[in-house]
Amino acid sequence: MTNVQTLLKEHRTFPPVPAETLGFAKWHVGSLEEYKKLHARSIQNPEAFWAEEAQKLAWFQHWDHVLSWDAPDAKWFVNGKLNACYNCVDRHVQSGHGDSCALVWEGEPMAPRTSHPTAASKYASEPEIKRVTYRELQEQTSRVANALKHLGVKKGDVVTIYMPMVPELVIAILACARIGAAHSVIFGGFAPHAISERAMDAHSRVIITADGGYRRGEVVPLQKNVEEAVNQLANHGHIINHVLVLKRTGHEPPSTRFASGTTPANVKATSIHPPTKFHWWHDLVARVSDACPCEVMDSEDMLFLLYTSGSTGKPKGIQHTTGGYLTFVNTTARLTFNLVPDTSQMFWCSADIGWITGHSYVLYGLLMNRVPTLLFEGAPNFPDNGRFWDIIARHKVTQFYTAPTAIRTFMKWGTEWPEKYDLSSLRVLGTVGEPINPEAWIWYHENIGRKRCPIVDTYWQTETGGHVVTPLPGATPTKPGSCTLPMLGIDAAIVNEQGEELGANQGGLFCIRKPWPGMLRGVYGNRERFISNYWGRLKDPKTGTPFYFSADGARRDEDGYFWVQGRVDDVIKVSGHLLGTMEVESALVSHPAVAEAAVVGVPHEIKGSGIVAFVTLKGSWATKNPGRQPDDALRAELTSHVAKEVGALAKPDQIRFAEGLPKTRSGKIMRRLLRDVAAGVEKITQDTTTLEDFSVVAKLRADEE
Ligand code: WT7
Repeated sequence: MTNVQTLLKEHRTFPPVPAETLGFAKWHVGSLEEYKKLHARSIQNPEAFWAEEAQKLAWFQHWDHVLSWDAPDAKWFVNGKLNACYNCVDRHVQSGHGDSCALVWEGEPMAPRTSHPTAASKYASEPEIKRVTYRELQEQTSRVANALKHLGVKKGDVVTIYMPMVPELVIAILACARIGAAHSVIFGGFAPHAISERAMDAHSRVIITADGGYRRGEVVPLQKNVEEAVNQLANHGHIINHVLVLKRTGHEPPSTRFASGTTPANVKATSIHPPTKFHWWHDLVARVSDACPCEVMDSEDMLFLLYTSGSTGKPKGIQHTTGGYLTFVNTTARLTFNLVPDTSQMFWCSADIGWITGHSYVLYGLLMNRVPTLLFEGAPNFPDNGRFWDIIARHKVTQFYTAPTAIRTFMKWGTEWPEKYDLSSLRVLGTVGEPINPEAWIWYHENIGRKRCPIVDTYWQTETGGHVVTPLPGATPTKPGSCTLPMLGIDAAIVNEQGEELGANQGGLFCIRKPWPGMLRGVYGNRERFISNYWGRLKDPKTGTPFYFSADGARRDEDGYFWVQGRVDDVIKVSGHLLGTMEVESALVSHPAVAEAAVVGVPHEIKGSGIVAFVTLKGSWATKNPGRQPDDALRAELTSHVAKEVGALAKPDQIRFAEGLPKTRSGKIMRRLLRDVAAGVEKITQDTTTLEDFSVVAKLRADEE
């Protein structure tokens, strides 16, 4: 959570600058007055606004009407027909831009650039770079689409994708869209359990992966993780029929080697009938045709599922559909980053495609707008801390989009790293993922934007599909720490529990009062969660129509600017990534030594939130039962257990063993209290009248000493 005190003291504003000073011919929205006029009009008549925006896409068949709204169910561009891959790829080939650059990829491996005489490297001094045109994308997506059909994938199926940041990831996603299969991308940093849990929830029968990916000079064993997931799934009676494997690293250990179309030794073939078949991407793709028509999809057909953490242990499959999502992402990408369709720009969003930021602003928003998008496989500190700035300088990146947690890390590494590089190509800087602290904003502005570039602090969620509150770079004066004003067509407000809009600087709940095209259409297979999470809490006090609730607390200042204060539910933001405290708790209790666990977020300088886990053990060390001892060895074991169960980003920063956890009389763990204990708050001001045994808290505190 952002420090409200700092925000209140923050009075600086940064006015927009003329477009020409940054190399743009014009701003799409060029003044605050123009923005206000457009926004007011877009809210008075959202259907007219969004219809005009939807016209910018290519439709096979025009819609009958713009919106059907039976809250909370929205249908946008009803009966319109289109295809996402066609809009990202084929359309540009047909309009004569087949040979233009669609994406530029840079692999991670390279030798250090800076003078480390001792840093002899096994890697070449120049990184591996690929440029892919729209025509090549068309050919490749068609081939992979045919390969998927060959594996039995049909329109409406869900294909699970677990890959490194390579061009083939974009190709795999677009190939699914091409044949009308929904994609469900799983972040490559997640553990096998995350893959099996999501594939099962999505009823997915085909997984696309790679033998490995590079991360900080190491090979991440993606295929091995998939093999484990396939086994876990088989134990639950869920059979994965086929796994398509891209050869990226060529480092697979003997146990995972396979001949295309067979089953690797690690996969328990005997228990599965018929056994899961693994296929090499290069092998299958070479054997199919390079022609595959784009399937005609209904506007409301599912384009993808993307799993996000919630306040229960089970991730939610957020459903996005075709016409509305594409329209919303096309518009927001164009306006927020002032995109102009040509190759005079090079857009780089450093997020992994496994997150919504990557879906919307590495892939769909850029390809649809016909602006080259840059894909980087690796970490910001490989081979050294200057890698990001080196990439910006070499590829002449014009718009750069990253997260506050990354910016805070760059601050820690020091200005000497960006200072070495020519960053003059930059025009617009973006941030996303959590509130940005004003110090980090100013650092970004001065050291990366060199005081020239506007910063767009974009507030949104997996569920919103795209930006819902953000500055427009040519129109909105910015204030460090504020995501400023609503996107065109978004009716955002801060309300109280009764749904009444609050006055200036009154903290309340962030909601969106009218439907928008990019909104989620459901939580896959869980209607109840869709309603209760997003639509059950707030409603229009006059009409009773539900409002969309984001689960964030926020306020608006006297200029109407939004200041997001953070989540009001049991999810925490670790390095910009959402984690349900329950997910980490479930992982901890799955360890044989653990009886009970409670996880809370605490402020963390770099990560935004750090994770503190309170753990009670089975048996009791007090009564010398045979339980495990609460020592550092067990701490280390539990930490790697969580990494193995959930993924590295869920590792607790601190594990505190306790004899008991504070609970209410009805047995609920009092997390707010634990949050205070974890943050070292001096005096407990929380209401503890319902606490069952107050001595538990006293003991937790005593353990600190
Ligand atoms: C949550 C959504 C949207 C892409 C990345 C995260 C927080 C996101 C901001 C911002 C303050 C922000 C909110 C939101 N958040 N952007 N600019 N300022 N908070 O997507 O994983 O679905 O997380 O991220 O808490 O609810 P996500």
